[in-house]
Amino acid sequence: MSSNPLQTVGLTEQHDSIIDESAEILMGLSCPQKMLSPKFFYDQTGSRLFDEICKLPEYYPTRTELGIMETHVSEIARRIGPHASLIEFGSGSSLKTRTLLEHLDRPAAYVPVDISKEHLVSAANSLKTDFPQLEILPVVADFTHPFPLPDPKITPLRNLVYFPGSTIGNFDTEAALELLSVMYQEAGEDGALLIGVDLKKDTAILEKAYNDSAGVTAAFNLNMLERINREFGANFDLTQFEHIAVYDAELGRIEMRLVSKREQRVRLQGHDFDFIQGEHIVTEHSHKYTLEEFREMALLSGFQVDKVWTDPASLFSVQYCSRRKQQN
Ligand code: AVJ
Repeated sequence: MSSNPLQTVGLTEQHDSIIDESAEILMGLSCPQKMLSPKFFYDQTGSRLFDEICKLPEYYPTRTELGIMETHVSEIARRIGPHASLIEFGSGSSLKTRTLLEHLDRPAAYVPVDISKEHLVSAANSLKTDFPQLEILPVVADFTHPFPLPDPKITPLRNLVYFPGSTIGNFDTEAALELLSVMYQEAGEDGALLIGVDLKKDTAILEKAYNDSAGVTAAFNLNMLERINREFGANFDLTQFEHIAVYDAELGRIEMRLVSKREQRVRLQGHDFDFIQGEHIVTEHSHKYTLEEFREMALLSGFQVDKVWTDPASLFSVQYCSRRKQQN
């Protein structure tokens, strides 16, 4: 008989924080600038395509962050200290988490937090095998709102919120500040944050990373429409939209777009959405920061950046933030 892995790891579900996704999609398509949240990328196909993106020669963030983690993990683990509870926001990055867990001194628990139960189950299962001693306490929650943390059997000396992958880049400034404040709360007394932050760089490098020559990012972007057709009953014609990503140097962000190839009408749950030729839907923002800009954001949300690790070309950063010390 196969046992239910969720019972062995003890799943907490925080469903009231998950809002109505149909309403969210309808609202996004009703805006003068049509938009859809990047969270809709990650169905099964989307998650697979994202894993493929991470291996593309043009997509530098994943391999660069992993390289930084591998080079500096001993120092990072020393900073975190013994008996920490590792709280991961979004749990799609098991490779980096593994590296960290392997080097942490007797971690009290691993708490992956994700809106997708499936992601949580697979993250928990794959880690359970390799870290049999570790208490794993997954939490289903929308981590942009505060949520209660489970109580590990071993009392942690500190909570370490881990937010790799530069997922922070998906949030516009105000939302990013709010999210950092949630992390500050979840970290609690003596808590800290370890975060991956993608850095500003040459426009050509950035645009290539999001317009790869193999067309994987295009497939990833278009898959969102396919998913919305399937799960929310829309009738997007995938052959009539095309992917493009542009870097806005002023705003410091990549914008992923789906451009309508012609004038067309799309139906979704009894509503019509009209497109003129060349009109686009925004599907994602990916903000890039200078070290100074991120330091400022951290300060505004209660953190101070204690240490920054980068790669030799300064493409990406991993930053350790602690609670801001009173200055007087
Ligand atoms: C997962 C949000 C970090 O912004 O680079 C990759 C997602 N989108 N290619 C990013 C993404 C297109 C990625 N993040």
